[in-house]
Amino acid sequence: LVESRVEDLLKRMTLDEKILQLNQQTVGDNNNPNNNGYQKPTFPAGIGSLIYFSSDPAFRNTVQKRAMEETRLGIPILFGYDVIHGFRTVYPISLAQGCSFNPELVREACTVAAKETKLSGIDWTFSPMIDVARDPRWGRVSEGYGEDPYTNGVFGVASVKGYQGKNLSDQYSIAACLKHYIGYSMSEGGRDYHYSEVSPQTLWDTFMVPYEAGVKAGAATLMSGFNDISGVPASANPYTLTEVLKNRWKHDGFVVSDWGSVEQLMAQGVAKDRKEAGLKAFMSGVEMDMVDDIYGQNLKQLIAEKKVPVAKINDAVRRILRVKFRLGLFDNPYTTIVDQRYLQPESKAVAEKLATESMVLLKNKDHALPLTGNVKQIALIGPLAKDQEDMLGNWAAHGDAKDAETVLDGFEKEFAGKAKINYAKGSEIDGTDESNFADAVAAAQKSDVIVVCLGEKKGWSGENTSRSNISLPAIQEKLVAELKKTGKPIIVVLANGRPLELVRLEPMANAIVEMWQPGVVGGSALASIISGRVNPSGKLDITFPLTTGQIPTYYDMRQSARPNSGKYQDISTEPLYWFGHGLSYTDFAYGAINLSAPKIHKNQKLVATVEVANTGGVAGKETALWYISSHASSISRPMKELKHFEKKEIAAGAKYVYKFEIDPMRDLSFPDADGKRHLESGDFVIMAGNQKIKFELLD
Ligand code: IFM
Repeated sequence: LVESRVEDLLKRMTLDEKILQLNQQTVGDNNNPNNNGYQKPTFPAGIGSLIYFSSDPAFRNTVQKRAMEETRLGIPILFGYDVIHGFRTVYPISLAQGCSFNPELVREACTVAAKETKLSGIDWTFSPMIDVARDPRWGRVSEGYGEDPYTNGVFGVASVKGYQGKNLSDQYSIAACLKHYIGYSMSEGGRDYHYSEVSPQTLWDTFMVPYEAGVKAGAATLMSGFNDISGVPASANPYTLTEVLKNRWKHDGFVVSDWGSVEQLMAQGVAKDRKEAGLKAFMSGVEMDMVDDIYGQNLKQLIAEKKVPVAKINDAVRRILRVKFRLGLFDNPYTTIVDQRYLQPESKAVAEKLATESMVLLKNKDHALPLTGNVKQIALIGPLAKDQEDMLGNWAAHGDAKDAETVLDGFEKEFAGKAKINYAKGSEIDGTDESNFADAVAAAQKSDVIVVCLGEKKGWSGENTSRSNISLPAIQEKLVAELKKTGKPIIVVLANGRPLELVRLEPMANAIVEMWQPGVVGGSALASIISGRVNPSGKLDITFPLTTGQIPTYYDMRQSARPNSGKYQDISTEPLYWFGHGLSYTDFAYGAINLSAPKIHKNQKLVATVEVANTGGVAGKETALWYISSHASSISRPMKELKHFEKKEIAAGAKYVYKFEIDPMRDLSFPDADGKRHLESGDFVIMAGNQKIKFELLD
């Protein structure tokens, strides 16, 4: 039915009406400093899409009414916005969400976000970001799911399913957008908007993996990146945008450029003027032009000059109309106005659960945590202990800092009647002012334990926020050094949007909890972990290098020619915390991995199982991460690759058998530099926990 409605409408459209569909402008007040060029005060009533800088559904309805009633064909406008980690009920940043290794919970969170978004007049989110990120200097590591291709794919799919629901036309479904296709996270040196040096092999091994998964899951749209890949801009790349996405993966939705990324083809040196930029982007497969109005101003002329075929215009319009029909916009163009749309108790419950599962216990020397009965006074110190603003993180949609619980709020609730909280700020996040150190030391001296909340400002990560050094500001390390002199145990809590260099801080801490930027109910979530009411279960989705100079360090690097040599002379070559690191208040013991057979043929499946016992005193959730490595391929493969994971709660004293069914073509093959998969016989190693076992793949 959708297809016949699309074709029927397309037949009735003039060329001008068609070209209008290929344009996106903005409406409302945009306060994003990275996104304020190219904004126009007015837009034609029949424009294809608007970025909606408002949360007022009535305003949307007024704008939509013009499109429905004042244009010849009444084609509804598609309203889009960046809903990255929640709309008003703000969740932890995506980098944190990945650490939950709980995609079902992320799906649930995206369902809640979709409802709040839809009820605010928005049909389309520019999310999820699934750019595999290996350089923590790049500010946008905070927006994706870390360094691993498979993890980004699993969480990308979970978000697409959460946003889009069972059917795009369901009442509260919104369209998802996989971004930034492709290679953007490799901006050299972590400098945002820079070029990316990605070989065709690495493109397929790493960056295509989550996009292929997201497209297969039905993501309605994709956004092309700002970067170029080894000289070919991502927004003018016929190979990635047409050959791969449309011809091979059969994506039938559309691609929108990033903000101004069509015009930026000139800055990238591949287009002499706006017209040529439009020609290159459009002919490569970018159907919708975000804000720079190049398509609007040039496509008609390019058609007249026979540089753009009408058939290509029809194909692009068809894709955009298809998404609008699938969303049900023609039948329900207006937003239903309801009073209670934000921060409902069930939404906050999802936010709290996700925040709790996202936090990672990085260190816990001599069981410094949890803080149990005999702790009577807790010194809660640090610039992030009573901070609302930075709890939400960057790109927090319509999040309001006033909604955010602070760590202090959470502690006061959690420890009421059990322990006294002695709060002192100690220092600012940055700067050199040490005048508040004395108050902090005094609070520490009268307490049994010090919890010190350190980290980054929310504006230090996100777009255009690269850092050349990922250390904590010196003032924060100095504060901890002063507190250390009291001899009291120190629990460090980190609120940050990227991995940090903790080489000086770590030895001073008895325990470290990575809280990330945890969203509206982060204070309660953290306090429940500190008190032990909730057992931490997050694992890192990104490696913490020991020092900035170790970047890049990620778990699936290719194999070295001399694995035991080539070390740094000045520091250890090992990062501080690898991908997958995360402690619990209980202990998990992995038994040996069992295989259904020691050898299999390429057309057979192999079942691996591992029994894990909870040998500690409390229940806990353990994520079994299943890796595979191959040591005799025709090209050198990564040291190991994550292929499957499962998170499960195991009661104290109980056991659980984790299972992984290996499909050789899916799990043992690798792509070549053009994406063709090769399955080669030979020896493989499968790993889970501290266990590994070899098996053989026969022809
Ligand atoms: O979705 C974003 C993108 O991630 C960065 N540039 C602007 C877009 C729309 O706001």
